Amino acid sequence: MTIKRVGVVGCGLMGSGIVESCARSGYDVVVREVNQELLDKGLLRIRGSMAKGVEKGKLSGAELGAAWTRIRGVVALDDLKDSDLVIEAVTENMAEKKTIFATMDKLCAPHVILASNTSSMCITEMGSVTKRPDRVLGMHFFNPVPVMPLLELVRTIQTSEETLQTAKDFGASLHKTVIVAKDTPGFIVNLLLVPYLLNAVRALESGLATREDIDNAMKLGLNHPMGPLTLMDFVGVDTGYYIANVMYEEFKEPQYAPPPLLKRMVLAGHLGRKTGKGFYDYK
Ligand code: 3HC
Repeated sequence: MTIKRVGVVGCGLMGSGIVESCARSGYDVVVREVNQELLDKGLLRIRGSMAKGVEKGKLSGAELGAAWTRIRGVVALDDLKDSDLVIEAVTENMAEKKTIFATMDKLCAPHVILASNTSSMCITEMGSVTKRPDRVLGMHFFNPVPVMPLLELVRTIQTSEETLQTAKDFGASLHKTVIVAKDTPGFIVNLLLVPYLLNAVRALESGLATREDIDNAMKLGLNHPMGPLTLMDFVGVDTGYYIANVMYEEFKEPQYAPPPLLKRMVLAGHLGRKTGKGFYDYK
C-alpha cells in the first residue's frame, strides 16, 4: 500500500513536528486541532521551525514554500477521512485516544492505517475500539521531530505484516531510521529513558547535587546533548509524569514510580519549557 495523504490529529509540539516532517517529504497533510486558536499556534510553530531550517541551511526557501502548500489545518476530524494514514498525536489520555480511534475507524476507508504517537500507552487498547486492529500500530516520533532521526514503530500482536511494512517504508521516506518494538509500556526508548530521568529527579530531591551539576554530569561526562533535568523540561514535566505513571501502573516496579517532586511540579504548573518554568526558568 502506498501512502499519499497523511492526517495528523493534534498540532501540539509532537503533532506539528510530524506535520512538518511529512510535508517536507512530499506528503499532503491535513492536521486537526480542537479549535482555531490552537490550530493557528501549531501552524505558526511549523512555519517557525521550517524558517529555522532555512536559516540553518537544512532546506531552501522554495522547499519551505512547497512544503507549506501541502499542509492544511482543520478543526473537524471529518476532514481527515481521505487520508491513507492517520497519526494521532494528542495528549497522553487513553479515553481521548480511544474516542479518536473509534471515530477515525468509522470515518476512514478500510485500507487506512491508524497510528498513535503515544510514548508509552497500550496500542492494543486503542486498536480494540476499531474494526481494523490489524491496521493499527504505534509510530513514536522524537522531539524535535524534524531533527531527530529515529522512528520507533510499535507492533501489537494483531498488527499485520503488511501494515508494519507500509509503516517501515513510510518511516524511511521521512529519512528516519526505523526500529520495531513490541507493545509493552515505554517500548524501547522510554523503557530505558524514563528510569534514568526519574533517578535524576530523585537525585535532585534528595539533595545529592544541584540541578546544574546533575545535568553537567551527564552532558559533559557522557556527551549527552542535554542533561536529564533539561531534557525533562524539554519533553514536558507532565509528559514525563504521565509516562512514568503508565509504566508503574503496568509493571508495579518502584523504578518507574514518579518521585513526589514530579507530581508537585505538575500540580504547580511547572511543566518545563512550554510553561516557561520547570526545573529551570525560561521566562
Ligand atoms: N529542520 C531541520 N533541521 C533543523 C531544524 C528544522 N526545522 N531546526 C534545527 N535543525 C537542525 C540544525 O540545523 C542543527 O543541525 P546541525 O547539528 O547539523 O548543525 C540541529 O538541528 C540542532 O539545532 P540547533 O543548533 O538549533 O540546536 P542545538 O544544537 O542546541 O540542538 C537539540 C538542539 C537537537 C534539541 C539537542 O539539544 C538535542 O538533541 N537534545 C536532545 C533531544 C532529545 O533527546 N529528544 C528526544 C526526547 S524524548 C522524546 O521525544 C520521546 C517522548 O516519548 C518522551
